[in-house]
Amino acid sequence: MTVKHAHGNYDIHFAHSANVPSFIPPGAAVITDSKVQGIFRDWLGDNPVFAMPPGEEQKNLARFGDALEWLASIKFSRSGTLVALGGGVVGDLAGFVASAYMRGVRYIQIPTTLLAQVDSSVGGKVGVDLPQGKNLAGAFYPPEKVVVCVEALTSLDSKQFINGMAEVWKYGFIGDAELVTELTEMQIQPNHPQLESIVRRCIRHKRDVVEQDEHETAGLRATLNFGHTVGHAIEQATEYREYLHGEAISIGMMVETKLGEALGITDKGTLEQVRDGLFRQGLPLTADILRDTDRLIDVMKRDKKAKAGQLAFSLLTKIGECKLIESVPEKDVASALKDS
Ligand SMILES: NC(=O)c1ccc[n+]([C@@H]2O[C@H](COP(=O)([O-])OP(=O)(O)OC[C@H]3O[C@@H](n4cnc5c(N)ncnc54)[C@H](O)[C@@H]3O)[C@@H](O)[C@H]2O)c1
Ligand SMILES: [Zn+2]
Repeated sequence: MTVKHAHGNYDIHFAHSANVPSFIPPGAAVITDSKVQGIFRDWLGDNPVFAMPPGEEQKNLARFGDALEWLASIKFSRSGTLVALGGGVVGDLAGFVASAYMRGVRYIQIPTTLLAQVDSSVGGKVGVDLPQGKNLAGAFYPPEKVVVCVEALTSLDSKQFINGMAEVWKYGFIGDAELVTELTEMQIQPNHPQLESIVRRCIRHKRDVVEQDEHETAGLRATLNFGHTVGHAIEQATEYREYLHGEAISIGMMVETKLGEALGITDKGTLEQVRDGLFRQGLPLTADILRDTDRLIDVMKRDKKAKAGQLAFSLLTKIGECKLIESVPEKDVASALKDS
């Protein structure tokens, strides 16, 4: 699969575990985390490795600086290739490092979490968090290639796997009704024979969207944010401590579907289907923090999609279709939060 972007294109390869090392050029420098390094040692050979501790709190400017200085210390040259091996934290940070080192070097994404495979490794958004907020420093910097190996997911713990499945359901809800039916019928596990084809479908959807709206200026890329306006507010209001991203957007998808139905944008009965799918997947459907409506709405007003303090949402019209709705009245958002 190929992804076109403003300055060229890159391929997404689907590989068996044994073939992954063949995508890593000799002399490539690897950025990863210590947990991932331990699991995928066989892929790394003699390549120099910068392994940061795992965790979102590591996606910061200090670690970004450390990685740049490490590259300089090993005399990494402008013609070298950087490899981002790990989940979205490593992918975002390493991609940002690649964009900055000597004003830009090539890099390869090898995503090892389900979330990173279906979402963060594709589309070229890279960056780090600042104390003032998530992803506040970054760039659009597409990789040279993405290598997806679903066998890598077998070592994920079930919480992390389910976290990624929230994004998979999201792709179904916003653009692939058939996927929703299939997910409802199958219990997808890391070693499920259908998993690779499901990951492919999600990536294809993201590819189609980012090709048309790479820099999120046309309102299309923003549709990928179904469940995310509320989900991000939940994550922020709970200081990223209580919920993984997929868990927060699961709750967000519930609230936003309720909101869509109340506004008459989402077909009645959709909420039941969304609830059923997420419940079967073992994802959370509601949270105490939803009662804190003023606080959540305040955070949403600072969302990147909000313009001049007006709330914007990607809402389903029905299962498999969505559209971006700008300027949703605050009182409707407050009721959807309270009733969820
Ligand atoms: N750039 C984008 O477009 C984009 C999109 C969505 C999310 N993100 C970012 O992605 C990040 C979240 O990514 P994530 O959910 O992958 O989290 P993560 O990178 O923190 O990985 C989660 C945990 O899983 C471990 N892990 C990774 N691969 C493993 C494997 N195969 N087996 C066992 N353990 C493994 C990691 O060490 C870590 O402890 C956030 O920072 C978010 O902002 C970016
Ligand atoms: Zn997401």
